[in-house]
Amino acid sequence: MKRIKTAVFPVAGLGTRFLPATKTVPKEMLPVVDRPLIQYAVDEAIDAGCDTLVFVTNRYKHSVADYFDKAYELEEKLERAGKHAQLEVVKNVLPNGVRAVFVTQTEALGLGHAVLCAKPVVGDRPFAVMLPDDLIWNGKKAGALRQMIELAGERGGSVVAVEDVPQEKTASYGIVEAPEFDGRAGRVRSIVEKPSPAEAPSTLAVVGRYVLQPRIFELLEQTGAGSGGEIQLTDAIATLLGEDQVHAYRFHGTRFDCGSHLGLIEATIRFALDHEQLSAGAARAMRLALDELGVVEHG
Ligand code: UTP
Repeated sequence: MKRIKTAVFPVAGLGTRFLPATKTVPKEMLPVVDRPLIQYAVDEAIDAGCDTLVFVTNRYKHSVADYFDKAYELEEKLERAGKHAQLEVVKNVLPNGVRAVFVTQTEALGLGHAVLCAKPVVGDRPFAVMLPDDLIWNGKKAGALRQMIELAGERGGSVVAVEDVPQEKTASYGIVEAPEFDGRAGRVRSIVEKPSPAEAPSTLAVVGRYVLQPRIFELLEQTGAGSGGEIQLTDAIATLLGEDQVHAYRFHGTRFDCGSHLGLIEATIRFALDHEQLSAGAARAMRLALDELGVVEHG
């Protein structure tokens, strides 16, 4: 299989769950401790060997492009002030040899449509799709995307990251039916977007990492509006199943659903407690808050 060097980041959604913050700050720019959410996904893509990052944005998301642009004035000021550590942090937002490309999704017609907007840049090669609001943390070990690209290299076809979710949550996800697993991977037999708990074929949910063959673009072009009136990536993958292998992959790592308030809080707690300089202070602050507020966990 051709090497996967391109990762697509669809970030043109409206982020309504984080209003009013997302009135002016894109969801992907909300910080988890010391970095915006999107930086975690970008680092994971680079760790996986990607050197072309395609951001699908809209007119409200200029700050995403600004963030990845070179900040000449800031770099010069940090240099003059002798703030070398901060200078490195700013420069490493996008390391040398990695390029960022921006394409616009003029209307939020759905995740599938956003992916299709990246077609002219991706061309005829397999590629990755990463949803930055699913933050996947695997410590210092291989990130989820690297694991998936390795699997695609071994088995061919496409790969979707999956995780078990509680039965009552199936209507928030694409759900796969993959009856037989060999280790962490199982061939997908069917996939459906946001089924009700009663209709869901399983509780195995697709989370925001995909390795896809370029054929998906043609299928997306033929895909009409699905669940929620949006063009769904899940529906195009469902068609792809009839022609090629799609593997569900249970990645190593912890996923934080940073598209929800609680997920963002959980990620913040985890990264703060794992942070060299902040860990002790964060633990103290948490204990104090629990004591002062008399918080007791129920259930
Ligand atoms: P979500 O379902 O999380 O929607 O999109 P959202 O708009 O970002 O957030 P809420 O639900 O209103 O709070 C999943 C991913 O697909 C992208 C989003 O940016 C997010 O990364 N997306 C969705 C697009 O790029 N374009 C779309 O038309 C829809």
